[in-house]
Amino acid sequence: EINKKVSDLVSKMTLEEKIGQMTQITITNFEIKGKPGVLDTEKLKEGIQNYHVGSILNVPNPGAATTKKWNEVLTSISNEANKTRLKIPVLYGIDAIHGSSYTAGATLFPQQIGMAATFNTEIVKKGAEISAYETRASSIPWVFSPDLDLPRNPAWSRTWESFGEDVYLSAQMGTAMVNGFEGNDIGSKYHVASCMKHFIGYGSTTTGKDRTPSIIPERILRQFDLTIYQAAIKAGAKSVMVSSGEINGTPVHASKYLITDVLKKELGFEGVVVTDWKDIIYLYTRHKVAENNRDAVRISVMAGIDMSMVPEDYTFYTDLLDLVNKGEVPMSRIDDAVSRILKMKFELNLFQNTVANVKDYPKFGSPEFIAVAYNAAAESITLLKNNAAVLPLQKNEKILVTGPTANSMKYLNGGWSYNWQGENSDTYAADKMTILEALQNKIGAQNVLYTPGADLANYDDAAIEKAVALAKDASKIVLCLGEKNYTETPGDISNLYITPSQTKLALALAKLNKPIILVLNEGRPRLISDFEDQMNAVIQCYLPGNEGARALADILYGDVNPSGRLPYNYPRYPNSLEKYNRKYTESLGDEEQNNDAKYEKSYSPQYEFGSGLSYTTFEYSDLKIDKPAITNTDTVTVTITLKNTGKVIGKEAVLLYLTDEVASITPEVKALKGFQKIELAPNESKTLTFTLTQKDLQFVNNDLKWISEKGKFKVQIGNQAQEFMLN
Ligand code: IFM
Repeated sequence: EINKKVSDLVSKMTLEEKIGQMTQITITNFEIKGKPGVLDTEKLKEGIQNYHVGSILNVPNPGAATTKKWNEVLTSISNEANKTRLKIPVLYGIDAIHGSSYTAGATLFPQQIGMAATFNTEIVKKGAEISAYETRASSIPWVFSPDLDLPRNPAWSRTWESFGEDVYLSAQMGTAMVNGFEGNDIGSKYHVASCMKHFIGYGSTTTGKDRTPSIIPERILRQFDLTIYQAAIKAGAKSVMVSSGEINGTPVHASKYLITDVLKKELGFEGVVVTDWKDIIYLYTRHKVAENNRDAVRISVMAGIDMSMVPEDYTFYTDLLDLVNKGEVPMSRIDDAVSRILKMKFELNLFQNTVANVKDYPKFGSPEFIAVAYNAAAESITLLKNNAAVLPLQKNEKILVTGPTANSMKYLNGGWSYNWQGENSDTYAADKMTILEALQNKIGAQNVLYTPGADLANYDDAAIEKAVALAKDASKIVLCLGEKNYTETPGDISNLYITPSQTKLALALAKLNKPIILVLNEGRPRLISDFEDQMNAVIQCYLPGNEGARALADILYGDVNPSGRLPYNYPRYPNSLEKYNRKYTESLGDEEQNNDAKYEKSYSPQYEFGSGLSYTTFEYSDLKIDKPAITNTDTVTVTITLKNTGKVIGKEAVLLYLTDEVASITPEVKALKGFQKIELAPNESKTLTFTLTQKDLQFVNNDLKWISEKGKFKVQIGNQAQEFMLN
């Protein structure tokens, strides 16, 4: 029925109206110059009446609009659209990537990297449901999320926007997020359309710098990157944003092969393909594969782009109009693009209801929603080291809290929070607790000494001396280090080590021989090998969001048992950036080199993917596989029993790894193929069941086909392992 509505509407549209639908403009273009946040009705009229603009994105300055303000903005847009000949609603899109992060008072979750660390798909789905609800409360129906990038170099400045380095984890979490955003019906007033991004290979930049070239053999692209998109498309994802990068010399925005042949035809993706910011323009100004804007528009539209995030002028509109009029872009391509966009607008119910009634969203920012964000933070925070059970802390001992990230909300929230790209969380989350405040709240301000000690980029001897002097009155030190908040290119770094000012502070405090609990607030693993051995405990917080400090304080004092697991390998050295699912040749150093192990080991991450400690102990036993040998059509059932053998209740992420012992393409040492998160009381035990299917045994061969090969496979869960044969 929707298809009929779409074709009826398309048949009534002029070429100008069609190209307008393909045009996306930033809201800041419609603001009165010098009056941030105030819309210029003439400019809006020009955009919607003259250029038929079909989509608007972004956050009005200065950011963090209330639902009321958002609804006013969306009302102005909707009123203007209603004055057009066909009254086609404008589709508003926003980077609500960890909650409805541009709406004042919205519930903010950990960033995706932390959500991955929960190893809990239910909580990820619930978080996306809440984000959808709160985004719709602001009348916005489309979010540029989830991020399905696979960071191959941990220095990449958008690592934290991803679900980490593993393909299986990313596919599961991406699916959960799409399901949470979209529910069963994106037309419902509580759901939004999701946007998978950034198709494809964006996280594979060789240098680790944003938007620099990726080199990805197609076999690898298909086995890893594409698998994640396939899962999210299966879950129903309605749109996709294209990567700003290039793969093997072709910018993805110019790749007909990737966008049309692979995504639209082979994977059967029927949704909207939107560009990233200015990326058609960049085809000629940066990538140099087009001579001018007109050329760039032709290349990208013919590659399969449906909507251009232009976003600051009408050059896409005018050039595309000319190209179609001169027969250089066929009408069939335009109709395909417009049909996809209109289909999404119909599915979102935009023709019926564009502006939300705030009364329909009583749970916005409610304690019920905040509790979910708190739980997500609590399940994400990952205890990486706890020598001599220094944690949990005792409430009656005095602590020194120090370090540049200890007393600021922006290090908890990270990018895309409150304003575009998100730098000012401090201002907008002022009613939420920083780590210092959460600890003062927990044990009383009189038990907490505080001084920043250093800032992220600078230190002075006096600041360090002050921290050292204060530490003398404390029995333990909570040292909060990390990195500035950033996203995209501004987050590029040339040195993966944590900044020298912070190393200096850590080393000075270590000389005191007092227990130090290192708390990390960071979007990517900044190397800490210069002082890690002098830290008694290490906690990775990632970017845990507005409730992160409360969750951290509860974990530090044992009121919550940590259960997060690292979703990436935390490297020890800058030249050892192996992934956990490495090849055997990347591990040989462990066995073969007995000389200076510290420098010679070729595989020795600081902490491995899946690391994460608890305050209790879990015993794994009875790993069983239902049959010793299977054929190509069977599934494999694996069972394992887990017992909480410690003294406190705890959650455990149970990870199943598979190894193909011999294969014609060098096999990975192990690959994640299943996970479940369970909670066990002391002495309680449970038997878990996992199912492996044919797909889990397969890899992509040199003919780009998914195949499985006969032979031995090994299943590992915890310290248990079993083999089976594929006959
Ligand atoms: O969605 C983002 C994208 O991830 C990076 N460039 C800008 C887009 C819209 O804000």
